[in-house]
Amino acid sequence: MPHSRSPVPDFLYGTAWKEDRTPALTELALRMGFRGIDTANQRRHYFEEGVGQGLAAAYRTGLVTRDDLFLQTKFTYRSGQDHRLPYDPAASLSVQVAQSMASSLDHLATSYVDSYVLHGPSSNHDWTDADNEVWEAMQKERDAGRARFLGVSNVSLPHLQQMATARADLPAFVQNRCYARLGWDRAVRLFCRERNIIYQGFSLLTANQEVLRHPLIARLAASANATPAQIVFSFARTVGILPLTGTSDREHMQQDLASRDLTLPLDAIHTIESLAG
Ligand SMILES: NC(=O)c1ccc[n+]([C@@H]2O[C@H](COP(=O)([O-])OP(=O)(O)OC[C@H]3O[C@@H](n4cnc5c(N)ncnc54)[C@H](OP(=O)(O)O)[C@@H]3O)[C@@H](O)[C@H]2O)c1
Repeated sequence: MPHSRSPVPDFLYGTAWKEDRTPALTELALRMGFRGIDTANQRRHYFEEGVGQGLAAAYRTGLVTRDDLFLQTKFTYRSGQDHRLPYDPAASLSVQVAQSMASSLDHLATSYVDSYVLHGPSSNHDWTDADNEVWEAMQKERDAGRARFLGVSNVSLPHLQQMATARADLPAFVQNRCYARLGWDRAVRLFCRERNIIYQGFSLLTANQEVLRHPLIARLAASANATPAQIVFSFARTVGILPLTGTSDREHMQQDLASRDLTLPLDAIHTIESLAG
């Protein structure tokens, strides 16, 4: 069984698209106070081995220990990968999951991850037999102690409903791109809330430029002496979204974490929730 009982953090630092800067930015994020790290064994968008190098640097200086951290990585289907695969593409999906997990543990120099996420279902429309096979293989990884919790990403409400019909074992986490124009993924968030699934939101800033520029957000930011980005992160947390940030900027890291101390008026929360959709 895993030894760590580190709680789920209230902010996740995302390591996508950082390439050679991944080790230094991972270490910096830990230095600034992040304790949750999101990555994927998908070399096309993430440098998981570089995340491991950043963690190793932080361990060496005594900044954190493994037990202080919440490490999340993902299994990515062949269709989401480039030529740098963490598994044998000719192997069965179950074997690919086991190989990808072994490779992730090697990259991160750990015996377990806190969360193991299916990066995206095999079809945009349905939860398929392939997804069932992968999900069962992920459950085996969890039951063997190599993952504390499981998650799914890039899912629609029908995916989750079909998953619920097909499998009793629902994910602990859903990680989705969160569009304000879809009520901040209202339908999926509601499904999650009703089943005690933690909803992780990404692209909260990049997908919602119209919200960042909205006069209400500007007013709230001015009166709280905060930035529009901080208002969005504070709003997200208040409505039950566990936010991700992928900033590469030291000051933004600080501001993002400081948004945890903001309290927004309840009426503003309701207004922001339906500001764009
Ligand atoms: N499951 C999936 O399929 C999936 C897909 C996409 C992302 N993710 C995960 O989510 C993480 C975050 O991705 P994201 O799309 O939300 O963010 P992101 O792509 O890293 O983008 C954040 C952007 O907003 C800018 N920014 C400006 N002010 C900021 C502030 N105060 N705080 C933060 N950013 C600020 C950043 O610039 P500066 O760098 O200059 O701050 C950056 O360009 C990724 O690293 C990855 O781990 C998962």
